[in-house]
Order: sequence, then structure tokens, then C-alpha cells
Amino acid sequence: MAHRLIADVVDAGDTAVDATIGNGHDTLFLAGLVGPSGHVIGFDIQEQAIEQTRNRLGEAESVKLHLDSHGNMESYLAGEVKAVMFNLGYLPGGDQKIITVPDSTLSALKTATEHLSIHGVVTIVAYIGHEGGSDEALQVDQWAEALCADHYSVVRYEFTNRKNKAPYLIGIQRLA
Ligand SMILES: C[S@@+](CC[C@H](N)C(=O)[O-])C[C@H]1O[C@@H](n2cnc3c(N)ncnc32)[C@H](O)[C@@H]1O
Repeated sequence: MAHRLIADVVDAGDTAVDATIGNGHDTLFLAGLVGPSGHVIGFDIQEQAIEQTRNRLGEAESVKLHLDSHGNMESYLAGEVKAVMFNLGYLPGGDQKIITVPDSTLSALKTATEHLSIHGVVTIVAYIGHEGGSDEALQVDQWAEALCADHYSVVRYEFTNRKNKAPYLIGIQRLA
């Protein structure tokens, strides 16, 4: 569903951000959408994630991967972006103790929404099954709910038939 929301608005030549590179699935997806004339800017705090993603992408000049926290996103963005993807939590197959945390997540979300072009989209997949996950998700929910409705639409997609702390998706679109 996150990919659908993003694919709906991102065109060739656009700039998009992967705020949590991980194993690079979303980075690869974004690179395919923006094409060689566009730009993807990616962040992760783990060397392992950068390496996995480099291997997955091969040579893609349109993609710049940064071994840095998305909390520092502001210093890497020169202008508007069409989409920013957040996939919170830990690296699948990696150290489950290294997780996204509210301070940097909220700081990055603020930067992301401020840099969104009109009709641009931010997606956040929140996981509540690991320690700290539900606190982070709650803080993200509260921040998103407070966004001005004249400028942003905020939607939430969740499973209604999965009982065990299933992840959910928040989608934000800039209106004006
Ligand atoms: C669920 S994984 C992302 C999966 C990824 N979207 C994919 O397609 O494979 C979450 C990632 O966020 C990274 N992460 C944690 N804190 C971060 C931070 N402050 N800035 C950037 N990445 C962070 C973790 O290292 C982990 O690789």
C-alpha cells in the first residue's frame, strides 16, 4: 500500500527520499520510479544496510546513500521532494537492538513534510511488536494528527483481521 501511494505521485525526474534504507527494497523501488534523470537520497545508520543496498542497486548514479541518521536530513535536501518513505524499526536480518527512535524520527518527519512539493507524499510504516516500537508509533501518530488539515491529508491503513501487534501505515499528502 505504501508503494501504491508513492507510485501514484512520483514521476521520472523527481527527487525522492528513503529515510530508512535497510535492505534497500524501497530504495530500489524509488530508483525505478524516478529513473536515471531523477534522484533518490537514502539514509541509514548501519554500514550493513548501505552495503546490502549498494549490492541490490548496482551502479545507479541517481541514488545517493548516506551513512547518517535521517535526523540530519535537512542538511542533505536542497529543495523540494516528491516522496519520503519511512519504514521504522530494525533491520530485518540484522541487530534487532538497533531501532529507529522518536527524537530523530520526528525531526526527520518534520523536515520531510516541510520539503514536500504540492501533492507529494510521505509514507510511514510503524511497527509496534518490538520494545520501543509502540511508544515511537504513538508519538508519530500524535505528530501526524496535529498536522494542519488545510495543508496536509493524513490517512492510516491498518489490518483489521490481524490481532498480534500488526504494523500499520500512515500516509501524508501535501495539499497546499
Ligand atoms: C525496517 S528497516 C527498513 C527496511 C527497508 N525499508 C527495506 O526496504 O529493506 C529500518 C532501518 O532503519 C534504520 N535506522 C534506524 N535508525 C535510523 C536513523 N536514525 N536514521 C536512518 N536509518 C535508521 C535501521 O538501521 C534499519 O536498517
